[in-house]
Amino acid sequence: MNIILLGPPGGGKGTQAKKIVEKYGIPHIATGDILREAVAKGTELGKKAKEYMDRGELVPDEIVIGIVRERLKQPDCEKGFLLDGFPRTLKQAEALDEMLKELGKSIDAVIYIDVPEEEVVKRITYRRTCRNCGAVYHLIYAPPKEDNKCDKCGGELYQRDDDKEDVVRQRFKVYMENTAPLIEYYEKKGILYRVDGTKSIDEVFAQIDEILQKIA
Ligand code: AP5
Ligand code: ZN
Repeated sequence: MNIILLGPPGGGKGTQAKKIVEKYGIPHIATGDILREAVAKGTELGKKAKEYMDRGELVPDEIVIGIVRERLKQPDCEKGFLLDGFPRTLKQAEALDEMLKELGKSIDAVIYIDVPEEEVVKRITYRRTCRNCGAVYHLIYAPPKEDNKCDKCGGELYQRDDDKEDVVRQRFKVYMENTAPLIEYYEKKGILYRVDGTKSIDEVFAQIDEILQKIA
């Protein structure tokens, strides 16, 4: 099962990806996570990417396409994969089509999580992430049991540098300009599935699960 999760920043892609991966056992490929890991390690890639990420801009296509190309060649992707946060531009979508063709694969479903801007801002400004294991919380909707501490590993929770309100609004703008056109791109291919992302975490997952069971 080869799936893409599409949706605005803070739309719940990462949250739903964890649940999909748990149930279906496919690898989770999140370009945002890969880039943040490079930033944390201070690699050349990380230094370059950080400038764009902190401003809420997209990292250049060539860089991100290269990362995904390498990742999709790994043997664990044989059983399927879940792309989260990629593709984000038409150029990335076309590059992905090319790579998959070379690998003899195709996308089974693009799940579009639909959430409006005001809800996105509310979700992201209260988001906290575990510095150690990357688990994601929301101070109101999905709070940790203990203040500032990860339930899973006890790690410290922090606010991402790009989760300040002005950067979030910029990310939404970039999404509308560059990524929203992909909805039509995949609709034309007949593989787009829309879910209402304003519902609770479990209700959103129920909608996604129904789609995945149909295509599995
Ligand atoms: P990336 O990390 O991909 O960020 P994003 O797309 O902006 O998405 P987020 O991680 O912010 O949100 P999410 O949809 O995963 O939501 P979450 O589940 O956490 O990218 C970051 C940056 O990297 C980009 O700006 C860009 O610079 C660069 N980049 C990455 N990929 C790139 C690419 N392909 N090309 C170029 N540049 C790239 O949920 C948000 C919050 O809401 C959480 O607190 C959660 O607990 C809560 N929540 C989730 N679901 C619900 C619900 N149903 N009800 C209530 N609360 C909920
Ligand atoms: Zn943790």
